[in-house]
Amino acid sequence: MAAVIFTGAQLLKQQGGFIGIAYVKTANYSTESKAYNLSALKRGTGGRSSFNGIVATVFGCGGFIGRYVCNRLGKNGSQLILPYRGDPYDVMRLKVCGDLGQVYFHPFDLRDEESIEKVCRYSNVVINLIGRDWETRNFSFDDVHVKGARLLAKVAKRSGVERFIHLSALNAEETPEAVILKGGSKFLASKWRGEQAVLEEFPEATIFRPADVYGQEDRFLRYYGHIWRRQATYLPLWKKGEETIKQPVFVSDLASGIMAALKDSDTAGKVYQAVGPKRYYLSELVDWFFRVMRKDKDWGYWRYDMRYDPIFQIRVTLTEKLRVGFPIGNLHWERVEREHVTDVVHSEVPTLEDLGVALTHMEDQVPWELKPYTYGLYQGLVDLEEPYTPPAPPTPVA
Ligand SMILES: NC(=O)c1ccc[n+]([C@@H]2O[C@H](COP(=O)([O-])OP(=O)(O)OC[C@H]3O[C@@H](n4cnc5c(N)ncnc54)[C@H](OP(=O)(O)O)[C@@H]3O)[C@@H](O)[C@H]2O)c1
Repeated sequence: MAAVIFTGAQLLKQQGGFIGIAYVKTANYSTESKAYNLSALKRGTGGRSSFNGIVATVFGCGGFIGRYVCNRLGKNGSQLILPYRGDPYDVMRLKVCGDLGQVYFHPFDLRDEESIEKVCRYSNVVINLIGRDWETRNFSFDDVHVKGARLLAKVAKRSGVERFIHLSALNAEETPEAVILKGGSKFLASKWRGEQAVLEEFPEATIFRPADVYGQEDRFLRYYGHIWRRQATYLPLWKKGEETIKQPVFVSDLASGIMAALKDSDTAGKVYQAVGPKRYYLSELVDWFFRVMRKDKDWGYWRYDMRYDPIFQIRVTLTEKLRVGFPIGNLHWERVEREHVTDVVHSEVPTLEDLGVALTHMEDQVPWELKPYTYGLYQGLVDLEEPYTPPAPPTPVA
């Protein structure tokens, strides 16, 4: 495929609104006016330097899960079309996911059908990782999870894409369980409607419903590690977290599941639950995270019931209302609501294990992920090289 060409409008790329759309419309990543069947050019043995016949457009590539998915795709010789919005520097580092000439970038707008069509026309696989945990001035949950997902599925179908993978969320329900917010999580309800919209446009789509996903730069472990989630050394949880059960999944396992689904055409039209191997009470899990971070009882850690702390509740409201861009520490009511929804795993719906993924256990991975949050690490108060007995792992729910 010819080199990436950003025709003319480089100077306009930072602009929003009318000028921004003009930029998207005039940009092109190929000099070819005709769509070739690139997958027919398959060659090599399937490693990074071969071409395995997959040309994948990854929407939401610049996000947390996107980085892992792109790495896996590049590693096995897929060609990557990476649509992005905003600054191209944010996604530029994904260039090294694949071999030379295998990774292409293209600006797009989730509301602009033409730009979506441009990035789907050469692909046989489309992966939709677009999602947002909070609503913004420009995009409601429905805009992102329902209308946006529907448009991607519709254009992919029209462009002759063979496989469409869509990321929803575990506990997505028409009327999700309400823990704190009246009517429950709007995020989860919109994810449920998004699944229906995608299946209406692309009935052979494969849907993944991930539980909380942890890994590098996640929004699960880092959420609890963040100073803004605590009241000094005290941690407020709804009903002390003793009535919420969670089953978090490791991001690499989710990426492995997506890769396995791509290889297996039997997964078309099916829904998969992406959950970890064990279930834990939220209270058990969070206590363990703090023990791992060496922020234990001696440090002042104490978990209490959020219901009796109006100051924390006011802080969540103010963080949500006064935010510029994103909420500090990911603290907002939608997040707090979802945090306390128990993970429901339906026995009749397949999981990552049905895709042959050997699931990672939290006790094997989390201590490494939480290392940067170790108490006193940057003040020289602890030496990670010194012998240390790791704290007891959390007790899973029987
Ligand atoms: N991470 C989890 O624990 C978890 C759990 C359950 C479900 N999921 C779902 O899995 C998917 C991927 O999650 P993630 O953790 O990788 O999310 P993420 O890190 O927040 O990344 C989301 C991606 O979506 C893009 N995006 C958001 N709104 C957009 C819009 N209006 N127009 C264009 N692009 C937009 C973002 O682009 P920008 O960078 O330009 O904003 C980013 O690339 C999402 O659908 C998420 O809801 C995640």
